Amino acid sequence: MVEGEQLDATERIARAAEVLRDGGLVAFPTETVYGLGVDATNEAAVARLFEVKGRPPEHPVIVHISEPADLGRWVDPVPTTAVRLGERFWPGPVTVIVPRRAGGIVDAVTGGRSTVGMRVPDHPFALDLLRRVERPIAAPSANRFGRVSPTAAADVVADLGDAVDAVLDGGPCTVGIESTIVDCAVVPPVVRRLGGVPLEEIEAVVGANVALDTDSVGAPGTMPSHYAPRATVVLTSREELPAVAERRLANGERVGVLGLGVVVPSGAADLGVQGDLTDYARLLYARLREADRCGLDTVLAVPPPPSGRGAAVTDRLRRASGTR
Ligand code: TXA
Ligand code: MG
Repeated sequence: MVEGEQLDATERIARAAEVLRDGGLVAFPTETVYGLGVDATNEAAVARLFEVKGRPPEHPVIVHISEPADLGRWVDPVPTTAVRLGERFWPGPVTVIVPRRAGGIVDAVTGGRSTVGMRVPDHPFALDLLRRVERPIAAPSANRFGRVSPTAAADVVADLGDAVDAVLDGGPCTVGIESTIVDCAVVPPVVRRLGGVPLEEIEAVVGANVALDTDSVGAPGTMPSHYAPRATVVLTSREELPAVAERRLANGERVGVLGLGVVVPSGAADLGVQGDLTDYARLLYARLREADRCGLDTVLAVPPPPSGRGAAVTDRLRRASGTR
C-alpha cells in the first residue's frame, strides 16, 4: 500500500507528484500531521477529497505551497501580518487565513468562503513534492472526519486504506499536532486554532495581544468531537491520578495513563511520555491511537499547564475528552 517501498525517496516523491498532477489523492508527511493532498485547482480532485475524507462541504481545507512568495498568486490583497508571520515561521506550523484571489483555487476548497487558509510545511518530502507539482495542494489531515490525526504513514493506511492513490512515507511527524491558524483577514488578527507555534510567539510577531477565538469558525479541528479516540478520555491531575485510576480499575475498566513523566499506577497501561512539552505534543496522537489498538476503555490524561507549548496539547486533550 505504501507507495513503492523499494524505490528511493526522490523516485517516490516524483511518482507522488505525478499522481497529484493527474488529479489523484496523495497522503504526504508534514512536520505537523500527515496531509491528504489534492491539486487545489482541480475541481474533480477536490470533490473526491471531501468524499474520501467524509468531510461536510462547508468545512474549509488548508492549502499548501512551497514558497512564501507564491502567496501573491492565490491571495489578493496579501495582508502585511500574513507576510510577517510567513517570514518568521515558514516553512513551519503556522497557517494564515487570507483573502482569496478570484480564479485559481476552486471554491469547494474554502467551502465557498472568500478567504483561504495557506501554509508552507516544514518537511523535506512535502517541499520537494510541492515544488514538483507546481500547484497549490489542498490537504486536510489524512484521517477520516472526526478521528485522531495521523502522525505516521501506517496511521494513514489504517484509516484510509485503499481510498487514497498513494501514501508517501516520510517517517513520524516531528511536531505532532496541527498548525496554529491565524486569521489575517480580520483586523486585528485572531488565532482560530492553537497548534505547533505557541500563541505567545504569534503575539511577538503581531506586536500586540492576539485574541483566541476558536468557536466562531464552526469547522473541523474546532469541534468538540474532534481528535477523539474510541476510548473515553478523562482529564485528571497528577495528584488525583492514583485514586481515579484505582476507582476505574476496580470498576473493571481497561485503563491507560497518558501524561508527561507520570507514574503509572499498577494495573494500568503506560501511555506516558518522557521528555518535555515538545515530546508530549509530538507523541500525543500516537498515544491516543495506541489506546485504541490496545482496546482500552479509558484513557486517564494529565494535561500540561495550559500556556506556551502546553496550550495546544491541553486544547486537544479537552476536545478528545469532550469537555469543550
Ligand atoms: O497542520 C496542519 O494544518 C495540517 C497539515 C496537513 O498541514 N492540516 C490541517 O488541515 O489540519 P485541516 O483541513 O484538517 O484543518 C482545516 C482547518 C479548519 O478546521 C478551519 O478551522 C481552518 O483550517 N480553515 C481553513 N481555511 C479556512 C478559512 N478560509 N476560513 C476559516 N478557517 C479556515
Ligand atoms: Mg483535521
